[in-house]
Amino acid sequence: MAIRELAEAWASLYANSVALRSAVSFAHVGGLLTGGGAAITTDLAILGLIGPDRRTSRETSRVHRVVVGSLVVVIASGLLLLLKDLDALIESRPFWIKMALFAALLVNGGLMLRVESRASAIDAALGPRLRAAALASLVLWLATTLAGAVVPNAL
Ligand code: HEM
Repeated sequence: MAIRELAEAWASLYANSVALRSAVSFAHVGGLLTGGGAAITTDLAILGLIGPDRRTSRETSRVHRVVVGSLVVVIASGLLLLLKDLDALIESRPFWIKMALFAALLVNGGLMLRVESRASAIDAALGPRLRAAALASLVLWLATTLAGAVVPNAL
């Protein structure tokens, strides 16, 4: 199968290059740091745990651009990490738990975008739905990171 052959060729390149391994790990973790950092900062602001607790929708749409751009890097590097160990990872339960958590994170992010697009400023008036979504986002970012840390240890 073409994907399996590609994965084998990539796995051997990956295993033999410190530079490649470092670049892919950096892309995954660097993307998480940037996108997750921006998302979590916004979640904490929505929950009123850090200031400023009022942001205009223009400011939050700029945050979304950073989060979405970083997630593209996270997904691309994640796929390269998956291909380097395809057979073991598709049989790994923690890997699929992580993918399910990531899917939930994306759905929740989409819901937050919809709620925010209807409001002109993020403040208490936006109501409990946005706060609940911000709390879910916080929990899902951390739970996905935990699952990500478990995957290599459980292989
Ligand atoms: C489609 C999206 C993603 C894919 C396909 C993916 C895939 C992977 C794979 C295959 C690994 C390496 C496992 C190993 O070393 O055998 C990994 C590592 C990791 N991932 Fe992801 N990932 C994705 C998104 C995410 C997200 C959204 C998070 C966190 C919110 C995350 C957190 C981590 C962490 C913490 C590690 C461990 C890094 C390390 O120990 O060096 N990943 N990912």
